Amino acid sequence: MIKVVHLLLLLFYCSGLHAETTPSPDVYPVITTRKALSKGQSSVIFEDIAILSPQYIELLCNLTDIPKNPPYITGYWAKNGQEVENSEEIVHRKNEQYILKKTFRIEAKDLGNYSCVFRENEAQVTFLLDVPAVKEKRDKPVVSYIGDSVVLECKLKYMPNTWNWYKANNTEKVHINETTNPLRYKIFLNGNQTQLTVLNLSEADSGQYFCSAEFDIKASESHMQLKVLSYMEPLKPFVAIVAEVLVLVTLIGLWEKCSKPKTSKNDTNSEQTSKLTRDESNGVENTSARQRKPEH
Ligand SMILES: *[C@@H]1O[C@H](CO)[C@@H](O)[C@H](O)[C@H]1NC(C)=O
Ligand SMILES: *[C@@H]1O[C@H](CO)[C@@H](O)[C@H](O)[C@H]1NC(C)=O
Ligand SMILES: *[C@@H]1O[C@H](CO)[C@@H](O)[C@H](O)[C@H]1NC(C)=O
Ligand SMILES: *[C@@H]1O[C@H](CO)[C@@H](O)[C@H](O)[C@H]1NC(C)=O
Ligand SMILES: *[C@@H]1O[C@H](CO)[C@@H](O)[C@H](O)[C@H]1NC(C)=O
Ligand SMILES: *[C@@H]1O[C@H](CO)[C@@H](O)[C@H](O)[C@H]1NC(C)=O
Repeated sequence: MIKVVHLLLLLFYCSGLHAETTPSPDVYPVITTRKALSKGQSSVIFEDIAILSPQYIELLCNLTDIPKNPPYITGYWAKNGQEVENSEEIVHRKNEQYILKKTFRIEAKDLGNYSCVFRENEAQVTFLLDVPAVKEKRDKPVVSYIGDSVVLECKLKYMPNTWNWYKANNTEKVHINETTNPLRYKIFLNGNQTQLTVLNLSEADSGQYFCSAEFDIKASESHMQLKVLSYMEPLKPFVAIVAEVLVLVTLIGLWEKCSKPKTSKNDTNSEQTSKLTRDESNGVENTSARQRKPEH
């Protein structure tokens, strides 16, 4: 069991390299050196490493404080949990440290999780190699109204080569071109960030939008949902209540009109009905009064 996995990561960038060149990191300058410490037995560290362009990268794991201090241990590398072929090696103790390092060539298809694993104690450190993720992944849709405009935004910590916006049409992504649709779209590009303004919204503008930060290695995408409502939409429950109240008020009004005696003598028909109703109700009162008498 190890107490501390001391991890030192050296990145040797060489973006200009071509596929035929063999990795020889010694001749390239070290641009970044990062260290991470892990305490306890489940020594899994996730190191997020932003990869912007194809490159060679050297990953280095520095294992210290192993109980019993064996003269050597066995280490190997795994990519996305799968052991990398021929990566196993015997790591000899040197100054109480066990160093496992390997250089990987990273192109778009090679992005993923790389782990150094020590067989004896299963200590492992994982490096997450990926393009930088676009921030602000929202789960809720952006809501706007017909005739309004709406601003969709994407941000990154790293500067991409360029940004692109897409709208989903069924399963396809349609590139949004501001020049061909100046009355519908405005695109604002500012290095780190981009904004898409959709003007004069109609219901057809509802749907999925994608922003895509283009890096040399590959694009980093984020998506968001836009929901365009008519102004009536949020009022609907209110309108329903108002309508109900109106119906009730009308009904009550009608009922009152029918049951109240008419003072106007022009409308003989209505007078007759009201008279009839009164007579009827009197009859009922009389009967109930008569019925009650024997009880007392
Ligand atoms: C490994 O870690 C130890 C302890 O922190 C440190 O002294 C040593 O310099 C590291 N070795 C490498 C090659 O980084
Ligand atoms: C890499 O590891 C992270 C964290 O466990 C995980 O979310 C991600 O899906 C992994 N990526 C791959 C390609 O396995
Ligand atoms: C990118 O944005 C971050 C904040 O999100 C800022 O600190 C950084 O300076 C920006 N970088 C560039 C190149 O614009
Ligand atoms: C969306 O797809 C339909 C067919 O699936 C097509 O007719 C229509 O032109 C597409 N719209 C755009 C904006 O590309
Ligand atoms: C947008 O459309 C214009 C005119 O059709 C075209 O010249 C331009 O290259 C397009 N832009 C993009 C980014 O596709
Ligand atoms: C907004 O869209 C409607 C129909 O969708 C159209 O009649 C109107 O002219 C548009 N207004 C502007 C300012 O583009």
